[in-house]
Amino acid sequence: MTSILSNTPHIADFRQGILDENGMHQGFLDPALASLTEDEVRELSDYITYCLDGGVDMPELVECYRTILDDTFQEQLNFMRTKAYRHSTFAEVADSVYFNKEYMTRYMHGLAFTAFIWPNHVEMRRFFLKSLPREKTGHYLEIGPGHGFYFMSAMKQGTFDRFTGVDISKTSVELTRKIVGHHFPKENRPVEIMESDFLQSTVSDGPFDAIVMGEVLEHVERPQDFLARIAGLAGPETHIFITTCVNAPAIDHIYLYRNPDEVTAMINSAGLEVRESYTGAYFGKSLEESRRLNLPINVAYVLEKAR
Ligand SMILES: C[S@@+](CC[C@H](N)C(=O)[O-])C[C@H]1O[C@@H](n2cnc3c(N)ncnc32)[C@H](O)[C@@H]1O
Repeated sequence: MTSILSNTPHIADFRQGILDENGMHQGFLDPALASLTEDEVRELSDYITYCLDGGVDMPELVECYRTILDDTFQEQLNFMRTKAYRHSTFAEVADSVYFNKEYMTRYMHGLAFTAFIWPNHVEMRRFFLKSLPREKTGHYLEIGPGHGFYFMSAMKQGTFDRFTGVDISKTSVELTRKIVGHHFPKENRPVEIMESDFLQSTVSDGPFDAIVMGEVLEHVERPQDFLARIAGLAGPETHIFITTCVNAPAIDHIYLYRNPDEVTAMINSAGLEVRESYTGAYFGKSLEESRRLNLPINVAYVLEKAR
């Protein structure tokens, strides 16, 4: 831990900024940072550098993380009381979240940080990178890239030769273009980030060689339609990677999966099959306890088209 902080001053400043506002987070934050691999420490430091270079200063970055922490906490309190997500339609959250540039920017940077701090998000990012085929060429499609971190990582670690992203939020489109531009200023491979609802989008007919959709199913009214469209855009060899969550309230989560079986049943009825999966219990609880107490569970899958 001490060596991370002394070798990466940006991370030390970021940590200190969080703890200055919320000292109680130390017991969670410090073990999380200490558990990162050297590569992950470098990636987190690079992400902070990218933000600072782009004009977001350190107090703002701390505020981004605080936003997601505070909002999630508020929504969890509400969920414990009501057993439902606060909103259930896109219209209820569209203007305050997806089409609100200031909020969406803060939210997306905050979410990117959780991929280095929240244990389940760390594991899902590891699973994404580990399962991403290194030898596959062809066309990579990502739905809802948001902050663009997964999209940029696929460009870095994969061997695809063409990339398409589609996101309903103009802010997410801009963030994804920005992170790609930052890391690949001289990119020759075609990269297109479209601003559109995935279900209405005119992405090419496929089959795509990889389709990635992280943390989108819980944000849409009819996730089954998203899975069905993905199945339609996939061929037998397509690498499909999806994440979502169960009983995990957030300000813009509108589709509630009550257990992981509901997710896999929906995947199967869309004509997709699970090849590999990750299920992350609530922090400090077993999977069985998380299920019984309706606590948040994160799930991630490598899928293939049913044969
Ligand atoms: C929670 S973020 C996920 C970001 C990133 N994929 C991740 O896993 O951390 C959800 C993203 O999905 C986008 N989104 C929501 N509904 C969508 C839709 N109907 N079509 C395309 N993108 C959508 C949002 O704008 C946002 O950028």
